[in-house]
Amino acid sequence: RRGQTEVLLLFQRGSDELFSSVSSNPYIMSTTANGNDSKKFKGDIRGPSVPSRVIHIRKLPSDITEAEVISLGVPFGDVTNLLMLKAKNQAFLEMNSEEAAQNLVGYYSTMVPIIRHHPVYVQFSNHKELKTDNSPNQERAQAALRALSSSHVDTAAVAPSTVLRVVVENLIYPVTLDALCQIFSKFGTVLRIIIFTKNNQFQALLQYSDGASAQAAKLSLDGQNIYNGCCTLRISFSKLTSLNVKYNNEKSRDFTRPDLPTGDGQPTMEHTAMATAFITPHCLFILFGVYGDVMRVKILFNKKENALVQMSDSTQAQLAMSHLNGQRLHGKPVRITLSKHTSVQLPREGHEDQGLTKDYSNSPLHRFKKPGSKNYSNIFPPSATLHLSNIPPSVVEDDLKMLFASSGAVVKAFKFFQKDHKMALIQVGSVEEAIESLIEFHNHDLGENHHLRVSFSKSSI
Ligand SMILES: *[C@@H]1O[C@H](CO)[C@@H](O)[C@H](O)[C@H]1NC(C)=O
Repeated sequence: RRGQTEVLLLFQRGSDELFSSVSSNPYIMSTTANGNDSKKFKGDIRGPSVPSRVIHIRKLPSDITEAEVISLGVPFGDVTNLLMLKAKNQAFLEMNSEEAAQNLVGYYSTMVPIIRHHPVYVQFSNHKELKTDNSPNQERAQAALRALSSSHVDTAAVAPSTVLRVVVENLIYPVTLDALCQIFSKFGTVLRIIIFTKNNQFQALLQYSDGASAQAAKLSLDGQNIYNGCCTLRISFSKLTSLNVKYNNEKSRDFTRPDLPTGDGQPTMEHTAMATAFITPHCLFILFGVYGDVMRVKILFNKKENALVQMSDSTQAQLAMSHLNGQRLHGKPVRITLSKHTSVQLPREGHEDQGLTKDYSNSPLHRFKKPGSKNYSNIFPPSATLHLSNIPPSVVEDDLKMLFASSGAVVKAFKFFQKDHKMALIQVGSVEEAIESLIEFHNHDLGENHHLRVSFSKSSI
């Protein structure tokens, strides 16, 4: 009987939606049948967004194991209890602290965990704690907890392996060793990594310091795309127990051995060049900054070609939209609409999102700090001719032409201002080239404490 009363706390009326139509699971039936007791918990029903140590997980695959559910929690703290509702494809996970639970929910809200190609849904439970009884189901859960939870045993001893084999399918953009490290480091300490191509497939072997991290990474990342719509990760455990890395270079890295030589593996410039072709918060900050002061930028994690840009007021937002909508950036037309959000949320402390969200409110690079400044009268639509200013005396025409050509722009014409060699116009091959050049060279350090200022010009040469 005792078990049943305790379980009621969990199945209070209206809680976590799922219990309204409980039928097949006898464990639940025995408790919901007791209508009286549920009254005790009236007024305790909170919205699912209220933080709780208890996490409610939905849409689990029907062959889900206890260990897999626990692994979702392990990277964020100790998992203190587990309730599996297999018939409902759901589970409850209790973390040791509310903070751990918040980290977990925060993380999975940007990065939906995929288990065997199924997205699963994670939210706070209405319950403050998870009380479970000694039913046979629960014994299995408790056994799994004892086996996997880092608070109870040495996880390395029971987790399958610390080495993951990663195959990247649909490789439209190149994937670098550094990019993989960044992604996989979210789940634990990456000790060693090797990338290679086998059977025309890009692959990596990646060794974590512990098996729980490897398992968590596999659970969360398997089936995920690195970039929007491409570069899909297929992850399995490797039979290797450790990786043998000889060189630290673009193809292999041993983070425990910074002293290793670089070997003959040439760092590939290709990769660095391509990496800059992705839209970054900085790139949007500089471009939108032409039309107003950009406060925050967020690149959407799951749709990396989508971003939110927060301007300092709505007039600036309108202006940026009218001038930049339809322009080409990194080879694709940019579509801009007004967001229903009024501000961009920053990731919570300790939830750095791979630098996808940036706050620029204190940036010294804003162009419109002072109301009525001259900068307001120099706002023009994107054009192939750029206005350069703040050029130091030592910098000559050829320096600037070479600088702009260095990023791939075709320099068609150049002219210093007659009376003032601090300013010049430069005409490049296209509006698109001008946009790329402005992003690249605005604020470029020309020495002598001069940072180049770049704007679109209204005149041509
Ligand atoms: C005008 O814009 C430049 C960048 O082009 C910036 O350095 C300067 O601080 C801006 N002036 C004001 C008053 O905001």
